[in-house]
Amino acid sequence: MSPGTVIVGTGQSGFEVAAALRAGGYSEAITLIGDEPHLPYQRPPLSKDFVLDKSGLEQLELRPPVFYHNHHIAVIVGRRVVAIDRSDRRVCLSDGTQKHYEFLVLAVGARNRKLRVPGADLEGVAYLRSLDEAVALKTLLHKAERVVVVGGGFVGLEVASAAKTMGKSVTVIEMQHRLLSRVVAPEVSVFFETLHSAKGVNVVCGGSVCEILEESGKVDGVLLAQGAVLPADVVVVGIGVEPNTELASAAELAIGNGIAVDKCLRTSDDAIFAIGDCAEFPSRFAGGRVRLESVQNGVEQAACVASAIAGKARPYTSVPWLWTDQFDVRLQMAGLSIGFEQCLIQGDLSIGRFSAFYFKAGRLIAVDSMNRPVDHVHARRLLEADAVISLEQVRNPSFELRLCGR
Ligand code: NAI
Repeated sequence: MSPGTVIVGTGQSGFEVAAALRAGGYSEAITLIGDEPHLPYQRPPLSKDFVLDKSGLEQLELRPPVFYHNHHIAVIVGRRVVAIDRSDRRVCLSDGTQKHYEFLVLAVGARNRKLRVPGADLEGVAYLRSLDEAVALKTLLHKAERVVVVGGGFVGLEVASAAKTMGKSVTVIEMQHRLLSRVVAPEVSVFFETLHSAKGVNVVCGGSVCEILEESGKVDGVLLAQGAVLPADVVVVGIGVEPNTELASAAELAIGNGIAVDKCLRTSDDAIFAIGDCAEFPSRFAGGRVRLESVQNGVEQAACVASAIAGKARPYTSVPWLWTDQFDVRLQMAGLSIGFEQCLIQGDLSIGRFSAFYFKAGRLIAVDSMNRPVDHVHARRLLEADAVISLEQVRNPSFELRLCGR
């Protein structure tokens, strides 16, 4: 009898492999192993509704416990996989047990990058990636008056929005000269800075944290390199993530900016796949190899790997997309704007209803839609179809994305 498939990581990507395998009729054993103490849950609400108490633990679970029982998916939580023995096709767990596999899927995700300044370990310094971190942050925020957020990326801005909505005094410190600089054009950064400022968030770009200040063993403020001190009861750090590559690296799998996989998401060992935040894969949307940190990427890569395990390998070609909710706006992003050369805005930045069109070598490569969901849907369709849309077309005031490619 085959030992079946072992999936390492109980995040959304790992969960989706198990679910997709069973949905596709896979009849061998499936074992899902994760070091978090919870059944698989959704992360996106953690920095939004969950912090705001609009959703509870039950709404976060991807499936209730009975699902795993009914689908014969063995879930091992609260334990780490500490080694992979590739020659014997087995994994070793932190409790000394072992599991054999025919196929192994590494969905091991990424971890928060740590702020390395004096005071960074004080009580009152929080990160946000896991459910346990979100619970701890929520408790801290309820007691706090003054919140300093380090990092003006997705986590930082979503937490700033939630904290401001809770009535706190909030400052965001971003190291770069604009918000969300990793992912959006300067025009879109300006929109977010204006939005947050209008809601009363103090935004400091080009700021560098040198120390977290202490009072009676707890956070009391943040000292910036420029000399300013920002009073704080809570400091939330969202300065990016690092892929968890150590397990794969120790097993001598190829590593790039993540666990390196081919177009069908296989690592340098044919029996092992890697997906989600930890995997670096070839993408026509990136014009090279890329590692993406989004739910869409994890879910669709999971489906692709489930097909491969079922003997129907296919290249992973999905259009990348993601969204962020801050205050009353939703930004939806389709494609990858990495290396864009021009950005054209259509719509009205001042009222927050616009789309940003990104071009490289004269071709449309990505569209960010602010409160324009119809544009987002059509952008995904057109990018998927590799439709040719020129700068001239978008410059035309009567241009409508929904009418393209029809
Ligand atoms: P991020 O990469 O989106 O943003 C980090 C920000 O911190 C960057 O703007 C960077 O310039 C800044 N930064 C780095 N070092 C700094 C320092 N020492 N001081 C001040 N600023 C500094 O990463 P983030 O926000 O931590 O998110 C982590 C992960 O969670 C990412 O994978 C992100 O995509 C994901 N996520 C996605 C969401 C969404 O899709 N809506 C929501 C929340 C998280």
